[in-house]
Amino acid sequence: MHNTVKIFDDLIYVGGNDRRIALFESAFPVPRGVSYNSYVLLDEKTVLFDTTDSSIGDLFLENVEAALGGRKLDYLVVHHMEPDHSATLERIVKKYPGIVVVTNKKVAGMLANYFGFAGNVHLVNEGDELCTGKHTLAFVFAPMVHWPEVMLTFDKTSGTLFSADAFGTFGALGGSIFADEVPFERDFLDDARRYYFNIVGKYGVQVQSALKKAAGLPIKAICPLHGPVWRKDIAWYLGKYDTWSRYLPEEKGVVVFYASVYGHTQNAAEILATSLVAHGVKNVVTYDVSVTDVSELLSEAFRYSHLVFASTTYNNGIFVNMERLLADLKAHAFQNRKYSIIENGSWSPQAGGLMEAELAGMKNLTRVGEKVTVLSSVRDRAPLDALAAEIARDLSE
Ligand code: FEO
Repeated sequence: MHNTVKIFDDLIYVGGNDRRIALFESAFPVPRGVSYNSYVLLDEKTVLFDTTDSSIGDLFLENVEAALGGRKLDYLVVHHMEPDHSATLERIVKKYPGIVVVTNKKVAGMLANYFGFAGNVHLVNEGDELCTGKHTLAFVFAPMVHWPEVMLTFDKTSGTLFSADAFGTFGALGGSIFADEVPFERDFLDDARRYYFNIVGKYGVQVQSALKKAAGLPIKAICPLHGPVWRKDIAWYLGKYDTWSRYLPEEKGVVVFYASVYGHTQNAAEILATSLVAHGVKNVVTYDVSVTDVSELLSEAFRYSHLVFASTTYNNGIFVNMERLLADLKAHAFQNRKYSIIENGSWSPQAGGLMEAELAGMKNLTRVGEKVTVLSSVRDRAPLDALAAEIARDLSE
């Protein structure tokens, strides 16, 4: 049975949730599921904005049918061709013959590649407009947020921005689809940050460009392809995206990442964390990189101003899970942070120098304090206390 939600009198939410998915994009754990959003506009012409993942295909088709209330579907606007938003496109096109797909040239190429689609396409360029009756839709290109073909639609009549992947988040929608009707900061912000940095974090420059375009629009609502719809506090969320896409820390504080086989490197990391707090640092979090998923570690790395990497030496190198974290940071253009290093080794400690070499390949990272070397186990707290003092001093500047 259909389950739609009215956003405005003439704009209906027709998406749904997948809580059984284990890995989004076969890579990112989503224990709270994910929503695939789609919207129907009921104007003199009817418009569907994007389709959905196949996992909710049957519900989605029922929702569209219910939202249309017996009317035919005139337009399908395609913002993004990643299959979590296009897997049900063929079913829609077959169900509503005569439908016109409104999109750009790059999407049209992908429509052919994915589906061999050769139906009616109305190609649009940046800034083009389409009048559907009362509503005027303006198309805004946003390449690499998250794929090169991505565009957004701004409904000039209602002030609604259909934002594709931008402003989305992991996490299925509970009862309400609206960000102002859920405790967003408590329940969604961590997932929104993790979604941003893992999905589009590499493309901060392109997100900045999209934000500049958005800044010129009188936005009253944001309808993303995942997560809640925004009607209030839009400036607050745009501000988060601005901070994230400029690669600036969201919080002053220290995140300690450790890789430990038998607990001795963990011990060093935890002594440092305790000492940081003793030196007055209020915001300290600690992660075992072998336990917490790397998508969360990446998100936390971007969140804080100061990072500590503590790794045992393993196969004459960096411990594997720490190596993976550093590779992921590099792949996502990690930059503009302070870092400190702790290494451990029972006969030839090398992890510290190797971690520094990896970090040297990233932009604008500055080391705080001297590298601390542990030989097998911590026998003297003094070097860790000295490092904590240095980090605390740097944070207070
Ligand atoms: Fe939600 Fe880039 O797809």
